[in-house]
Amino acid sequence: MTSLDKSFVENSAWKADLFKGKVIFVTGGAGTICRVQTEAMVLLGANAAIIGRNPDKTTKAAKEIEQLRPGSKVLGIGNVDVRDINSIVGAVEKTVNELGRIDFVIAGAAGNFIADFNHLSSNAFKSVISIDLLGSFNTAKACFDQLRKNKGSIIFVSATLHYYGVPFQSHVGAAKAGVDALSNALAVELGPLGIRSNCIAPGLIDGTEGFARLAPPGGAPLEDKIPLQRLGTARDIAESTVYLFSPAASYVTGTIQVVDGAAWHIGSYMGDLYPSVVKQQNGDPNSKL
Ligand code: COA
Repeated sequence: MTSLDKSFVENSAWKADLFKGKVIFVTGGAGTICRVQTEAMVLLGANAAIIGRNPDKTTKAAKEIEQLRPGSKVLGIGNVDVRDINSIVGAVEKTVNELGRIDFVIAGAAGNFIADFNHLSSNAFKSVISIDLLGSFNTAKACFDQLRKNKGSIIFVSATLHYYGVPFQSHVGAAKAGVDALSNALAVELGPLGIRSNCIAPGLIDGTEGFARLAPPGGAPLEDKIPLQRLGTARDIAESTVYLFSPAASYVTGTIQVVDGAAWHIGSYMGDLYPSVVKQQNGDPNSKL
C-alpha cells in the first residue's frame, strides 16, 4: 500500500507537474523511506525506477507506486545488489532504455543491525560499509553519464549517528560518515558540470524497518525526548527530497539536510540505559540491566 496519495499534491507547497518529463532512479526504493520519496516524485510528475535485491518486493512496490498518477511509469528492477557495480550498471541501462533518461538519483539502499563492537565481526562491519558506502559510490558512478548529460542531482540517504558516539552502531556510523564525505566531495568535483549532490539525514522515522531495528529496548516513549515532540514521518523526508530536487534548491549543493526535529542535538537516545547496556553486552556480571 502506498503512504501518499493525490492529497499530497492538492495539500502541499508543490506544483502538480513540478517534475514532468523527469526520471528518478532510486536504490532501496521498495523500503519505507525511499519508497515514500519515490511516491512524492511520481505524484509531482516524474517517472521512476526503483532498484532492490528482492525482485517480488521491488516489482510489487513499483506497480503500487505507478497507480498514484495516471500515465506514470514506474519500473521495479529486482536482483540488484548495490555492492556489485555491474549489477547497478545493468539497472541504469534498463532504466535509460525504458524511461529514456535519468535526472535524479537517490542512493538509499542501506543495511543495519544493532551490534556491539565485541560481537561485530570483521565481515559484518564490511557488509554494512559495502552496502552503505561502496553502494552509494557505485550508484553515483553508474548514474554519472546520465547526471552529466541532464545536469542532474543526487541525494544520498545518510544519518546522524556519526555526529556523536552512538553505541552499537560503529559500523553504520563509520559508513554514513563516509557517505557524507563522498557527497561533499562530489558536490565540489561535479558542481562545474552542473550536477548537485546533497545528503538527507533522517532522525527517528516512525514505521520504518530502521526504527523497528534500532529503537532502544524498554519501550519508553521517545517523542518527548525530541525537541519537536514527535517522531518523524516518511513524508517529512519526502518533502525535503522534493525541495532538494526542485529548482528552489538550484544553488544548494554540498549540504546535509538533517530531518530529525533537532533530536541529535539532545544526544544519545539511550538515556539511563547507558552504560549498563554496554557492560551487559560485554558480559559484565555486575551490570544492573
Ligand atoms: N549482529 C551481528 N552480526 C550480524 C548481524 C547482527 N544482527 N546480522 C548479520 N551479521 C553479520 C553476519 O553474521 C555476517 O558476519 P559473519 O560472516 O562474520 O558471521 C555478516 O554480518 C554478513 O551477514 P550476511 O547475512 O551474510 O550479509 P548480507 O549481505 O546478506 O546482509 C546485512 C547484509 C547484514 C546488513 C543485513 O542486515 C541486510 O541485508 N540488511 C538489509 C535491510 C536493512 O538492514 N534495512 C535496514 C535499513 S536501516
